[in-house]
Order: sequence, then C-alpha cells, then structure tokens
Amino acid sequence: MRVLVVGGAGYIGSHVAHALRRRNHEVVIYDNLSTGHAALAQGFELIVGDISDSAEVSSALRRVDAVMHFAACAYVGESVANPRKYFQNNVVGGLALLNAVVDSKVRKFIFSSTCAVYGVPVRVPITEENPRLPVNPYGVSKLMFERALEAYEQAYGLRFVSFRYFNAAGADEDGKAGEDHNPETHLIPSAFEAIHGERPPLEIYGNDYPTQDGTCVRDYIHVSDLADAHVLGLEYLEQGHSAALNLGTGKGHSVRDVISTIERITGRAIPKRMAARRAGDPPELVADPSLAERTLHWKARRSFEEIVATAWNWAESRRALIR
Ligand SMILES: NC(=O)c1ccc[n+]([C@@H]2O[C@H](COP(=O)([O-])OP(=O)(O)OC[C@H]3O[C@@H](n4cnc5c(N)ncnc54)[C@H](O)[C@@H]3O)[C@@H](O)[C@H]2O)c1
Repeated sequence: MRVLVVGGAGYIGSHVAHALRRRNHEVVIYDNLSTGHAALAQGFELIVGDISDSAEVSSALRRVDAVMHFAACAYVGESVANPRKYFQNNVVGGLALLNAVVDSKVRKFIFSSTCAVYGVPVRVPITEENPRLPVNPYGVSKLMFERALEAYEQAYGLRFVSFRYFNAAGADEDGKAGEDHNPETHLIPSAFEAIHGERPPLEIYGNDYPTQDGTCVRDYIHVSDLADAHVLGLEYLEQGHSAALNLGTGKGHSVRDVISTIERITGRAIPKRMAARRAGDPPELVADPSLAERTLHWKARRSFEEIVATAWNWAESRRALIR
C-alpha cells in the first residue's frame, strides 16, 4: 500500500515509516518540521507542509491509499498553559486534514491517540471501556478528534483505527531513529540529559502516591512495538472495520523503578531530587492491551530493559555526532 505518514519526521512516525518500508509498503512523509527533524525522514520522500494546508494535503492524498496521522502538539503541561495552540493544531488542523481525506478517495485512516483520553481511570489496568474523561486540554483535543472519526465513519464510510498509546519509549534497534524532543519532557531521555549535566537534577514528582514505592506508575511501550501495531492496523483496515485500541504492555513501572533500571543498564548515577506532585498526574496508568492483542494478533515483545538500552544507545550516538 502507499501510505501518507503525516508527522513522519517525528519520533513515533519515523519508526512507523521504517516498519512500513520493511513490510514493502511505500511511504510518503508529510510534516511541517515544527517538532520533527528532516534527518528522521532521511531516505523517504518528504513533503514539507502543514496539515491545515488543504491544497497541499489534497495533492499528496491523490498518490496514496491510506493515511497515518501522527502530527500534533503533545506536551500536557504546555496544553494547560496554552490550550489555544492545542485546539488549533490538534483539532482545527486535524479536521482540515480529515476533511481533505474524506474529500479524496482515501478511506483508511490511523490516528495517534493517547491514554490521556481516559483522564483519571476508574479501574487499572485500563480497558477501552473506561470512560473517556480527559483532565487536560491535550487529552480533550485527542478525544475531540476520536469523536470526529466516529462520526465520519458513520457518515462517510471512513474506516479508522485510533491507537491509544501509553508511554512510548526506546529507539529503533538498527539506530535509524530515536527520540529527539526539545524541550524533553519524557522520563527516560530526561534522565539521560541529567546524567550528562545537560539539565538540572531529574525531578521526581511526588513520593506519596498510593503505589508500591510512592512514585507514579506508567506503562512504557517500545516504539518499535508501536510501529509493528501500525503495520497490522493497516491490514486490519483492509478488512473494512474500525477500532479504538490501547497500545501498552500491561506492565507498570514506577519512577523509582525506571531510575534504578537506567542506572543499572548505563552504569551511571542519575542526579535527582524530590519535587511536589504535578497537578493532574494520576497515580497509575497501565493498559489492558488484550483487545489490541486479539484484534491485531499483536503483542508488545520488547522488554523494559530493551527500551532503556536502545534509548541509551540512540542518545549516546547522537551525542557523539554533535560533539
Ligand atoms: N510520545 C508518546 O509517548 C505519545 C503518547 C501518546 C500519544 N502520542 C501521540 O503520538 C503522536 C506522535 O508523537 P511523537 O512523540 O512522535 O511527537 P513528535 O513531536 O516527535 O512528532 C510529531 C510530528 O508532527 C509534526 N507536526 C506537528 N504539527 C504539525 C502540523 N500542523 N502539520 C504538519 N506536521 C506537524 C512535527 O513536526 C513532528 O514531526 C502525537 O500525535 C502524540 O500526541 C505520543
């Protein structure tokens, strides 16, 4: 299939682009490079454009059979401080893209959603049945887009998969892609920056949560496992169905657990300090991934140790290049 990977110069999209190519799909990347990097799109055709540019999007759509939509603003804290930016890009921009899709012949669409659509879960592990009650503008913007997909499916025969990612982490085993956000807010690459003194000591936000060691628990999924699910999602769309699926491992890791695993694997101490809880941080977010496993015949295969090791290798090789 020919696939337009929108946001394919970013962290997750670039991994999916490589996974698609490995399965003999053709990839065209569409990205405005706002947070992405042309280097991550290297080896692929890259159209530099914005999702809100309907003419540019429509012309790209004429050449493809399916769309994968990764392009979004994705910092929870920033979404609280500047919700306008999030509704503009993730909803208004996203709808411009979606409208261009339904005005074209393309009817297969894969969307990067998030566990943030659940807000504070009623039950953990979280199934897709959990009420969608996001607690920040980022999560609301993603839920609005999910709702649009559901309505467009009914009205226009669009077929979609909304993948609700838990915490994406790790890097491509071949070293072709990895995480490069600025500023970095994700725990594992932030810990690497702290090791190298490139940021102040790593802050642990709260140690009095009702969890095993008092720190927040999250479900870290290797980005290559996410990428594999996208390839299978495309095959699922060929059968004419739509779905909303959690992508996680079903295993939780506390912040302390993440820190000690990083220290063990890298052999380096992480400068760290305790800090107050962050507003709106649920104690535990762990997926029940069984619906995705049954629907796609997929399972997250990479271990947490592989996540840390591949992320470290990627970060160290980037650092060597920059020096
Ligand atoms: N990283 C995670 O743990 C995580 C978890 C849940 C959901 N998600 C979602 O997955 C998607 C990808 O996340 P990521 O971590 O790879 O982020 P990223 O910032 O690395 O990638 C996003 C890409 O989209 C591009 N983009 C943004 N706005 C655009 C626009 N208006 N027009 C064209 N291109 C645009 C950026 O330049 C970037 O290349 C996002 O939608 C995010 O909300 C990520």
